[in-house]
Amino acid sequence: MMVLLTLMAAVISPLTVLGQQDTRTILQFLKDEGLTTLSGFVVGTGLDKTLGDVKVLQGHVVDQVKACSAKLPSNMLIGLATNSTALKEVLQGHVVDQVSVCSAKLPSNMLIGLATNSTALKQVLQGHVVDQIVLSQYVRDKDTKKNFNGETLSFKVYDNGVKTINGAVLVGIDHSLANGVVHMIDDVLLEPDSNIGEYIAQHETDFQDLFGLLVLGRLFGPLETTGPYTLFAPVDQAFESIKDTVTQLINNRTALSDVLKYHVVADTYWSEGLTDGMKLPTLNGADLTISVGLDGVKVDNAKVIQADIPTSNGVIHVVDTVVVPSSP
Ligand SMILES: *[C@@H]1O[C@H](CO)[C@@H](O)[C@H](O)[C@H]1NC(C)=O
Ligand SMILES: *[C@@H]1O[C@H](CO)[C@@H](O)[C@H](O)[C@H]1NC(C)=O
Ligand SMILES: *[C@@H]1O[C@H](CO)[C@@H](O)[C@H](O)[C@H]1NC(C)=O
Repeated sequence: MMVLLTLMAAVISPLTVLGQQDTRTILQFLKDEGLTTLSGFVVGTGLDKTLGDVKVLQGHVVDQVKACSAKLPSNMLIGLATNSTALKEVLQGHVVDQVSVCSAKLPSNMLIGLATNSTALKQVLQGHVVDQIVLSQYVRDKDTKKNFNGETLSFKVYDNGVKTINGAVLVGIDHSLANGVVHMIDDVLLEPDSNIGEYIAQHETDFQDLFGLLVLGRLFGPLETTGPYTLFAPVDQAFESIKDTVTQLINNRTALSDVLKYHVVADTYWSEGLTDGMKLPTLNGADLTISVGLDGVKVDNAKVIQADIPTSNGVIHVVDTVVVPSSP
């Protein structure tokens, strides 16, 4: 899993944490930790007015890439963050590859967009700030918080001890500071721009068959309007390799619905929460079996070929095979 490179710092506030030793502000902490890209962006967008000031503060930020930005000195990054022309030049040049490897969720054109639009950048940064102290040991499964943009951030706590926020894994310890708490996370948090149904409908090069069958099987509506769900989404090739079965299913909508529901789990299972041997109860009533091995993650006999597509009502994992519940 490519989680090592993007180190984001999530931050929380305000002043009222008891027994604090560390009197640094969030901004100072980010600088001291060498989170130079993030602290540069924070200054460049004016968020330092919040995160640097103990009196005002309320925050919970999350950002950026220790490993990735290690090669750039911090004064240069702060300079870049405050000069979008220069930043754009750098991003378009040699740095862009490095950065996009680090932030898998951020396509390079989006990074350039953020670098040249401080309103958009500020919005992304604010997406990582919560106006409340959040200590990870007290986070419970399905807790939600509103970030500074008013969007919902959802925590998941899995049996294997992994904690995620909108799919990004909380890494290491909480850093309690003068005006908040910083949490390191392993990815950039972005507000998903579609729900599960919309994502499938909009990606017809991969999911034309799945989309059509979900509509016929009357499962498309729920995937658009309710949740949260985990959808194991077979690509078109998977349906094309069992054409005769698909024809039978189309002629028997009860059977179609049964098979489709076997691909949907109520609740959000990011891949970090999936463990070998785990059973996931599906909407069909039968359990899927997860296996995690050297060749990746499998769901029954289907291989996960793209994991963790974030949506506003859950997560999609793309699989290479249609899974069928064994007869009772
Ligand atoms: C911003 O960067 C560009 C390109 O490096 C440079 O020409 C310009 O003078 C800089 N502007 C400021 C205000 O520093
Ligand atoms: C900058 O980003 C904001 C927020 O995403 C957007 O509304 C605005 O249109 C963008 N401005 C430009 C010039 O692209
Ligand atoms: C349709 O499928 C259901 C569930 O698999 C099965 O119980 C039923 O007998 C099938 N109906 C027909 C007409 O084959």
